[in-house]
Amino acid sequence: MKDILQTLEDRRDMARAGGGEHRVAAQHAKGKLTARERVELLLDEGSFEEFDMFVAHRCVDFGMQEERPYGDGVITGWGTINGRMVYVFSQDFTVLGGSVSETHAKKICKIMDMAMQNGAPVIGINDSGGARIQEGVDSLAGYGDVFQRNIMASGVVPQISVIMGPCAGGAVYSPAMTDFIFMVKDSSYMFVTGPDVVKTVTNEQVTAEELGGASTHTKKSSVADAAFENDVEALAEVRRLVDFLPSSNREKPPVRPFFDEPGRIEPSLDTLVPDNPNTPYDMKELITKLADEGDFYEIQEDFAKNMITGFIRLEGQTVGVVANQPMVLAGCLDIDSSRKAARFVRFCDCFEIPLLTLVDVPGFLPGVTQEYNGVIKHGAKLLFAYGEATVPKVTVITRKAYGGAYVVMASKHLRADFNYAWPTSEIAVMGAKGATEIIHRKDRDDPEKLAAHTKDYEDRFANPFVAAERGFVDEVIMPQSTRKRVSRAFASLRDKQSEMPWKKHDNIPL
Ligand code: HXC
Repeated sequence: MKDILQTLEDRRDMARAGGGEHRVAAQHAKGKLTARERVELLLDEGSFEEFDMFVAHRCVDFGMQEERPYGDGVITGWGTINGRMVYVFSQDFTVLGGSVSETHAKKICKIMDMAMQNGAPVIGINDSGGARIQEGVDSLAGYGDVFQRNIMASGVVPQISVIMGPCAGGAVYSPAMTDFIFMVKDSSYMFVTGPDVVKTVTNEQVTAEELGGASTHTKKSSVADAAFENDVEALAEVRRLVDFLPSSNREKPPVRPFFDEPGRIEPSLDTLVPDNPNTPYDMKELITKLADEGDFYEIQEDFAKNMITGFIRLEGQTVGVVANQPMVLAGCLDIDSSRKAARFVRFCDCFEIPLLTLVDVPGFLPGVTQEYNGVIKHGAKLLFAYGEATVPKVTVITRKAYGGAYVVMASKHLRADFNYAWPTSEIAVMGAKGATEIIHRKDRDDPEKLAAHTKDYEDRFANPFVAAERGFVDEVIMPQSTRKRVSRAFASLRDKQSEMPWKKHDNIPL
């Protein structure tokens, strides 16, 4: 009996050894942790329950029958993050380069199916040379099966991808369909075709890092949501994010203990908006002053900085924040910021996370480049996303809310539940100067008259009261009491019921 038990332990040791000491050392030398070390760091201590430790591939081509390592290059199973269940797969680059075989893909599919059945997030740690070259189409079929599950799971359970090594070719499309992608600086990359192919086809010379590194994807392409210094930091941040999210679309986000008075008054907010309407201020200051304990988890911090997206908690409950940032491009809407915010709004809506929108928007960014690249369709994404969202929606206008952008930013017209405005708000078709130059064109050469017209327009529209008269703004509030008002608003909306008419699905302008 003892021998049999020992056999199990021996086999487990073989599986745990991965690709062997030499390859593990090579992995560490690149500043990367092993697949198992990553899982241990991601999950609560001792909570990991492994599946399929002894799975081996069935390939007999190219001498592969001689090399059948346990686990087949991916570690799968479930565990907990701060006590809540998650499913995880972690590709093991030390075993056949973490390449994806038929059986490797089956292991991933198994935990994805269980995650959907049991209502828990899937976290995928990617570190792989891609399709197992020796397996040909069997490997591609495996990828296809994972892709289909990514699609089925979208909106059912949160899916998070952590890129911690190579992720190239068609392999990028599995993370691309998940909700969040995190990368590690200098040790991860994603691209559809690598630098060599790019050089051959387009004659462009780039390094892997330039083409698909963490900086490229967080600052230029927006494929990734955040980049971290190393594996340890990335995994710690995934744990932090999971704490904000519900386990599935069948339940509400977790409620955490909070130590911050919901009615906390912030007198400093009364002077946040500068006297000069063209002087910027930092909208993040408002966000952190509203949040429980000032805790803000920002998504896509380095992309389209004129729009801020991320999670806070109010009274311990997760709230998604979308806010214009007057410090960058005056907080205007453009292609990138609209796309960024639209995707975030849709994530929140499918997982029942209420939305807080903070508005200071002078309009859409004018320009040939914007028009040629389809700002009409991209701007419409955000409009559409807000209009279809049925979660509780609370909006606070701090200063400018001009033109179409006023409507887009979770206005009353898009079924927002509470629309508050600070006394500093200006809700109008456009800024007073621009408006005057159009409606008083005949006086354009008379600066004195123009100034008088501008003053007149400002007096009439550069305030929240016309909108408040119409009921488009529910209440004009003191900036210092914003946390209290917003917290109470969300509390009143906890049992909100709102539905869209039946349809197979909508046709958001992609
Ligand atoms: C089988 C692979 C492999 C693969 C790496 N290995 N990629 N085995 N299939 N795709 C093995 C190597 O043979 C090696 O084995 C070990 O993994 C480590 O690889 P190295 O090359 O030594 O590591 P490194 O120098 O760090 O380079 C990593 C790499 C390189 C850049 C990823 O391995 C590489 O270019 N691999 C091939 C990538 C590729 O073309 N994949 C197919 C893409 S198409 P030993 O035994 O020596 O340790 C694709 C389509 C997906 O993925 C389609 C989805 C629909």
